[in-house]
Amino acid sequence: MNKINPTTTKSWKKLLGHYDAIKSTQMKKLFQEGDRAAEFTLKWEGFYVDYSKNRITKETMESLRDFAKEMKLQEAMADYFGGQTINETEGRAVMHTALRAPKDATLKVDGQNIVDEINETKQKIKQFSEKIIGGSHKGFTGKAITDVVNIGIGGSDLGPDMVTKALAYYQNHLKVHFISNVDGDHVHETLKQLDPETTLFVVVSKSFTTQETLSNANTARDWFIKKAAKPGEDRKKDVAKHFVAVSTNLEAVKDFGIAEENIFTMWEWVGGRFSIWSAVGLTIAIAIGYDNFESFLAGAHKMDEHFKNTPFDQNIPVTLALLTVWYNNFFKAESEAIIPYTQYLQRLPAYLQQATMESNGKSVDQNGKPVDYQTGTIIWGEPGTNSQHAFFQLIHQGTKIIPTDFIGYKESLHGDEDHHNKLMANYLAQTEALMNGKTEEEARKELEADGMDQEKIDQLAPFKVFQGNKPTNSILIDKLTPESFGALIAMYESKIFVEGILWNIFSFDQWGVELGKQLAKNVLKDINGDRINNHDSSTTALINYFKK
Ligand code: F6P
Repeated sequence: MNKINPTTTKSWKKLLGHYDAIKSTQMKKLFQEGDRAAEFTLKWEGFYVDYSKNRITKETMESLRDFAKEMKLQEAMADYFGGQTINETEGRAVMHTALRAPKDATLKVDGQNIVDEINETKQKIKQFSEKIIGGSHKGFTGKAITDVVNIGIGGSDLGPDMVTKALAYYQNHLKVHFISNVDGDHVHETLKQLDPETTLFVVVSKSFTTQETLSNANTARDWFIKKAAKPGEDRKKDVAKHFVAVSTNLEAVKDFGIAEENIFTMWEWVGGRFSIWSAVGLTIAIAIGYDNFESFLAGAHKMDEHFKNTPFDQNIPVTLALLTVWYNNFFKAESEAIIPYTQYLQRLPAYLQQATMESNGKSVDQNGKPVDYQTGTIIWGEPGTNSQHAFFQLIHQGTKIIPTDFIGYKESLHGDEDHHNKLMANYLAQTEALMNGKTEEEARKELEADGMDQEKIDQLAPFKVFQGNKPTNSILIDKLTPESFGALIAMYESKIFVEGILWNIFSFDQWGVELGKQLAKNVLKDINGDRINNHDSSTTALINYFKK
C-alpha cells in the first residue's frame, strides 16, 4: 500500500496557510478572548493537561485533527492494538500494550492469544520477586539477598532504572544498582559496593548479543566466582543462585551458564524501548513489590483505553502529538524539553529520549523513500527547579523555540507543604513567564521603580525584555503513584506512536544503531591485533595514537 506523504494532504496545505496567518500572534492576546484554559484543557483520571499556553487557536486544533484523519490515524491505531505486523521492516507486531492488558483479555498475534503466556511470565515474576523480598531465596551461604544489580543497556536499563527511581518512595529494604556502560568504571565501581553472598544479578538483554551487557555480565560472573570462593573452592555452581536473566534468546542465556528455571522470557513483539512492562521490569517488581508493579501496569492500561476510545479532541496523547507536529513541521522547532517538577522523575527525560528519538529519528518514509520534511524531535530535560538555574535562560531569551512539557503533582509524597508549595509556585510561574514574557515598557517601569537613573535604564532595558510566546503544556497529576506513573509513561508511548503515523515513518525499528556497532567490532580487532585495517586517515591516526 502506498502510504501518504503528510505534506501532500489537503489539511497540511491548509495548516501552512494558517501558520502564516498566526505565526506572529501573541498568546497573551489570545488569552484576552474567551476562556482559553477551559477550551484547551483535558481532564482524565487525576490528569489535568492544560495546553492553552500554545500558539494555537480553535482552528489550529481542528485542522490538526483533520490532518490526523487524513493520515488515517484511527485505522493505524486499530492495526496497532489489533496485533498487525506494523513493525514492517522487522516483520513483527508491536504488542507491548498487551503486557498491561487485563488477565482475561484476548489479544492475538498470528492468530494466537498471547495473554496466557504473558500471565505465566507475570506469575513467575510475582513468585520470584516475593521470594527475594521475603528472604526465602537464599544465596550460596544461606543468607537472604540484600542487593539487586540490573545489567542491561538501552531499554533493558533505562526503563528499570528510571522507574525504580521514580517510584523510590514505594521501595522496600533492598538496594538496587544498575550497570549499563561498557566502560569498566561502571561495573567495577558498582562491584566494590557488593557482597557476593547477598547479591542477585539480573542480566537483561532481549537479544542476549549486546556487547555491553554481555561484557558486564561476564565481568560480574567472574567477580562472583572469584570473590565467593575460599582457597580451593569452586563456586561456579552457585552462579545459579545469584544470576537470573531476562531474554528472548534462551539458548544464549543457557550458554552463559544461567539455569533454565532462572530465565524470564520476553517476546519478539516487545521492542526494547517499550519493554518495561515485560519481565524487563523484574528489577522494578523486586524493588517496589509485585502489587505495585501490577498497579503500574494497570495505570498504563487505563491510559491505553483512554487513547483507544476517546475522540481526538479529548484524547491526551493525540493532542500532545499534534502539538509536536505543529511546532516541529510548521514553526521548525528542533527540540522539546521535558521538565518534571519532582526529583523522583530525574531519569524520565533520558528514558523519553530513547523512546522518542530511537523511534522517530528516521529519514525514510513507510514507502522506503527519503522524507522531504522534518521527523523526530530532540528530547531533553532535567527536573525543575534545578533546570531553571541551569538552562532556562535559553528557553526564555534564546533564539530557539522549545516547546516544553511541565510535569507536576498536586500532592507531594513527603507531605512537607512548605517545600511543595515553593516547588509548585515555580512550576506555575515558569509557564506564565514563558507565555507572557516582559515588554520593554514593563522592563523600564521596573527599573524606574528601583530608582535607576535614565542613562542606566536605557542601557539595561533591552536585556530585561522577554519576548514571551514560548509554548508549554502543563501536565498536573494528582499524586505520584505506581498507577499514575504507568499512565504517564503510556501517555508518552502513545504520543510517539501517533507522531510516527503523522510523519509516515516506521517507529518500531532502529536500524540506525547498527552501523556504529558493526564498525566498533572492526575497530576492536584493530586495537587488539597487530595491524590496522583500512580506515580514513583520521580514524587510522586516532587508533594509532590510542595504541601507542
Ligand atoms: O542498540 C539499540 C538497542 O537495540 C535498543 O533498542 C535496546 O533497548 C538496546 O539496544 C538493548 O538491547 P538488548 O536488550 O537486546 O540487549
